[in-house]
Amino acid sequence: MQVKIDKCMEVVKKDDEIISPAARVPYYPLVIKRGHGAIIEDIDGNEYIDLLSSAAALNTGHAHPEVVKAIKEQINDFIHYTPAYMYHQPLVQLANKLIEITPGDFKKRVAFGLSGSDANDGMIKLARAYTGRSKIISFIQSYHGSTYGAISLSALSLNMRRKIGPLVPDIYHIPYPDCYRCAFGQKRESCNMECLKQLEIAFEYYLPAEEVAAVIMEPIAGDAGLVMPPQKYMDKLYGICKENDILFVSEEVQQGFGRTGKWFGIEHFGIVPDAIIMGKSIASGMPMSAIVAREEIMQAWEAPAHLFTMGGNPVSCRAALATIDIIRKENLLEHAHKLGEYVEHRFNQMKEKYELIGDVRGIGLSIGVDLVTDRATREKAKEAAAKICYRCWEKGIILTFFANSVLRIQPPLIITREQIDKALDIIEEAIKEYLAGDIPDEVLRVAKGW
Ligand SMILES: Cc1ncc(COP(=O)(O)O)c(C=O)c1O
Repeated sequence: MQVKIDKCMEVVKKDDEIISPAARVPYYPLVIKRGHGAIIEDIDGNEYIDLLSSAAALNTGHAHPEVVKAIKEQINDFIHYTPAYMYHQPLVQLANKLIEITPGDFKKRVAFGLSGSDANDGMIKLARAYTGRSKIISFIQSYHGSTYGAISLSALSLNMRRKIGPLVPDIYHIPYPDCYRCAFGQKRESCNMECLKQLEIAFEYYLPAEEVAAVIMEPIAGDAGLVMPPQKYMDKLYGICKENDILFVSEEVQQGFGRTGKWFGIEHFGIVPDAIIMGKSIASGMPMSAIVAREEIMQAWEAPAHLFTMGGNPVSCRAALATIDIIRKENLLEHAHKLGEYVEHRFNQMKEKYELIGDVRGIGLSIGVDLVTDRATREKAKEAAAKICYRCWEKGIILTFFANSVLRIQPPLIITREQIDKALDIIEEAIKEYLAGDIPDEVLRVAKGW
């Protein structure tokens, strides 16, 4: 249990008074003082094991010494000069590395930005510029960020769309293939991919395929609750794109940079996308995003169609170069894969004991644990998710939930087996305490979540 959070509460109170409410999804009053590896310390001196990695943005962990060293070195040389006008080496070095680690044995180019959101916006522009077509296909329950283009691609929450329209036009949303909660009531064994038929219906009646520029898809739907599409869906969708000269874009802002045990989530499906959107963990916490696309696609737009004064910042570039080195040197892809299998196994053991756990899914260290009030109806157990996360925080674990009911297990990839074991034991304790009615309703006033 927490001993003392007085200093944290003071900051949270002040924050509540002066920070925009549109910028926070509250879980609990954790005010961070420092972080190292997979451990966070708050300003009252309490320590936590981090299972969130700053929303999957710190795959190499907090303040990795190699990242810190690279940042310090770069700051000593120069902090920034806009690549819009002048050149710098770290930008070119990083672009080369990104081209190297992305799937596809063809010529590529890179466009840099500052956030996953702006990269999504960039992709809309680029796909339109290259194809000369305006329409974009995205997915229901997807989250792509907070700029106008990214919000328009997203379909996760009415709150992010309310009152701010009109949004970017010509974006169409189709159902993501969610085999646990199939919107069409199908069973995995007998599924005939009714969800993909929705696209065929659209192409037949109201959405001319020859006007569609791109499908922008997360290879695992993160904020939808880490939903994994089946291989046959991916093969068929990719085939439809190729038949109709539609670009297939993998949105890897959350799943990229080793999170799933491969550099990019789409590699699990053996699909080579025309472009990849990346952000979050690319620079281990420094602001940066990138689009990596086929050479001929990237040649379709001209300056200043997508440039940012602060984009491609050399400090972020150096942090990103260090990030790629660390992932390689420390074998983090393999570690994420192996540890991920272990975590899934542990949750599956818990699933056998607790009816509350409806589904355990994901890949690598991107694992969702879906809580239900009833296994037959699969009704989401939002209160349970909120209470369990809150209790875990009280016991020293940073755990959050999304899609109302899904515990989000995305620790830094450098987390050790001992740390993850401790975290899993505490999650199990919290589940038991929830089932025993030991977590008071008042925590629901704080732990709102997605
Ligand atoms: C899949 C995905 N795309 C895009 C974004 C937006 O990234 P950013 O918040 O860096 O703009 C997020 C952020 O949560 C995300 O999860």
